[in-house]
Amino acid sequence: MSRFSIAPSILAADFGRLAEEVVAAQEAGSDWLHVDVMDGCFVPNISLGPDIVAAISKVARVPVDVHLMIVEPDRHIPRFVDAGATAIGVHVEACPHLHRTLQLIKRAGVKATVVLNPATPAESIRMVMPDVDQVLVMTVNPGFGGQAFIRETLPKIAEIRRWIDESGRDIDLIVDGGIALDTVEDVARHGANVFVMGSAFFKSGDYKRFVNEVRAKLEPYEDGVPLNV
Ligand code: DX5
Ligand code: ZN
Repeated sequence: MSRFSIAPSILAADFGRLAEEVVAAQEAGSDWLHVDVMDGCFVPNISLGPDIVAAISKVARVPVDVHLMIVEPDRHIPRFVDAGATAIGVHVEACPHLHRTLQLIKRAGVKATVVLNPATPAESIRMVMPDVDQVLVMTVNPGFGGQAFIRETLPKIAEIRRWIDESGRDIDLIVDGGIALDTVEDVARHGANVFVMGSAFFKSGDYKRFVNEVRAKLEPYEDGVPLNV
C-alpha cells in the first residue's frame, strides 16, 4: 500500500462520457477523484455544480474530493454534502470566517480541506491547522487545467509538511496544478502526499500506464523523504 495518492482531476475528462471516464480512472488504479467547482466569480472560469458531483459519486468507488473555487461557499456546502462529497475544500481567500466554514463542513460529517492560492502564505492557515483534515496547496493559479507548475510554491509545501509532522496528526497534503511526470517527484520530495493530476492524466492516452509511471517515479520516496529545501 503506497503512502501516496493519485487524484485525477475530472475537469480534464471528456464530459460527454463522464461516467465512463470515472470508471476508467478508477480501474487504472487512481486513489481519489478530484472535482473542481468554479463559479466564474472567484475564478474566471465556470465548470460544474452539485448535480454533476452527484452523478460522479454514483459511480465512484474511491473518495470524491470536491474543490470549491467559489465565493460564499457556506451557501452551497450542504448541496455538495448531499451530492456525496467525501471531502470539501474551501479557499482561504474566499472565506472571511474560515474557522466557521471549516466547522460547517466537519459537522456535516465530511472531511474539511483548506486551500491556498500560490501567492497566499502558509501563515494564513496556521490558526486553523487543528481544524483541518487536509491542506491543498495550489501550484497554479486556480481556474484552468493545463497550466505550468509554479516552482515558488515548493518551500510553502515543505513548511506545511513540517507543521503536519509536528502536529502528529494524519493530515493529507495535496498539490494541485501542473502536476505531471516531470514535477511529481519535486512535490513529493517537499512533502506532498496527494497529487491532483488533470491534463497529465486524461491526455496520457493510457490511464493505467500513466498511473504506473507516476508510481514508479514515487517509489524511491515511499520510505519517507529528506526535505529538499
Ligand atoms: C485548477 C484546478 C485543478 C486542475 C488541474 O484550478 O484546481 O484541479 O484541474 O489541472 P492540471 O493538472 O491540468 O494542471
Ligand atoms: Zn482542483
